[in-house]
Amino acid sequence: MAGLLERAFTSRAGKALAGRFGLAEPPVLRRGRVLPDEPVVLASLANSTLAGDTLELLGVVSAVPLRDDDAELPAYPDRIGAIVVDACGLREVRQLEGLRAVLRPAVRALAGSGRVVLVADAEVTGVEANAVRQALDGINRTVGKELRHGATANLVYVAQGTAAPDLASTLSFLLEGRSAFVDGQSWTVSPARDPIPEPGQDEQRAPQRHDEPPAPLAGRIVVVTGAARGIGAQIATVAARDGATVVCVDIPAAGESLAALANRLHGTALQLDVTAPDAGERIAAHVATRYGADACIHGIVHNAGITRDKQLANTDAQRWAQVLEVNLAAELRINPVLLEGRPGGLADGGRIVAIASTSGIAGNRGQANYAASKAGVVGLVRAEAPQLAARGITVNAVAPGFIETDMTAKIPFVQREVFRRTNSLGQGGQPVDVAETIGYFLDPASAGVTGQVVRVCGQNLVGQ
Ligand SMILES: NC(=O)c1ccc[n+]([C@@H]2O[C@H](COP(=O)([O-])OP(=O)(O)OC[C@H]3O[C@@H](n4cnc5c(N)ncnc54)[C@H](O)[C@@H]3O)[C@@H](O)[C@H]2O)c1
Repeated sequence: MAGLLERAFTSRAGKALAGRFGLAEPPVLRRGRVLPDEPVVLASLANSTLAGDTLELLGVVSAVPLRDDDAELPAYPDRIGAIVVDACGLREVRQLEGLRAVLRPAVRALAGSGRVVLVADAEVTGVEANAVRQALDGINRTVGKELRHGATANLVYVAQGTAAPDLASTLSFLLEGRSAFVDGQSWTVSPARDPIPEPGQDEQRAPQRHDEPPAPLAGRIVVVTGAARGIGAQIATVAARDGATVVCVDIPAAGESLAALANRLHGTALQLDVTAPDAGERIAAHVATRYGADACIHGIVHNAGITRDKQLANTDAQRWAQVLEVNLAAELRINPVLLEGRPGGLADGGRIVAIASTSGIAGNRGQANYAASKAGVVGLVRAEAPQLAARGITVNAVAPGFIETDMTAKIPFVQREVFRRTNSLGQGGQPVDVAETIGYFLDPASAGVTGQVVRVCGQNLVGQ
């Protein structure tokens, strides 16, 4: 029945009917390491130069904004690809008018898959300044909901002392197609512990020619659990595209597809159930054996995850334990082992990335065990990040919304269609959207991003 319904909806007649009910074909999103074709407009509201300096560092030529402060609403002569608004220094409610004045003409001219990026102070003092700081979040979320044609809005808070090199990886991620399914979000960038090396200055990176695509992870080992399929396979693929040597981990039952992926990516496969008591030791031993006793891991991505959905009233101890073990407890056991300084462990300056879920943030009927595990992941990230800051290790999580994978293919069709559509972009995300966000965390240039949870959900309506 579900299959019949799905075929009816995806047939040409079904699509036409869906269109008449307001379920129009969703826009095709700009993806990949691709900046907008159209101009990037830069507006600084209170004389901060941070966003402008960052765009300059990225080699993005910015255009001057039009302001709606005349009698007649000014119109951009052509479409624009993005507007970056530097709102650092904003402290008073009356100054928010400046934001409205630059956004109004810009959102009218924004191209498909265009970007609104706000940059604001993370820490401010005083009641009005805090009110203004929070107001920016409300504006960001609302603009995200109002934009059309795959355009997104996001807000970056910058901690005191953040300089252009600290912000560069975040602005390039947000402007590029890599952030296609990140919408209406805000997170914080802080000054990196050590200066972020310019490309070419990083001793671990092979020298790179200008005509080659960026390879920020060249010479680095990245371990991805649950890599045999779905989101994990994409995380491994994107890390390899970005130059990493990838260790693909999955259960023995997935051995065949795991080996095929590892071969394709010129990485290695490790058959391992992450809930094994010695999982951390076995990961480190694999790295030391395959890559040498001096080798260490740059990044571990804890992607392996399962669902065993039932309402709490029907959840027995086994369903409860399985999900918490794979999704949370395994990670809690593996991290300390990799942090002990053993051969094949995690390097100082490394990256820990976890996968939460919007279900963990908002709660989801039938997923008490899953929501507990994924909310637990958020707690883990927030607690571990400050502990590891002195070692230059960042700890972050992505919280995917509805992503098109085997896991979500199990959801009944009508419910699946509702989940798919109830976000600002009107479609489900692709595994690559989660993978690109993880690639952004893994980037050595993202050293100032830690303790953050970024939702990759197209601004799903559920939760905060
Ligand atoms: N698909 C979504 O919409 C969505 C949304 C939010 C969060 N997530 C999270 O993203 C991650 C990947 O999800 P997916 O949709 O690709 O799932 P998936 O079921 O397609 O893939 C999960 C992979 O993890 C592996 N795995 C499971 N248990 C394991 C274990 N004990 N040890 C090692 N490997 C194990 C599986 O074999 C599989 O290859 C999960 O953590 C999931 O909770 C997914």
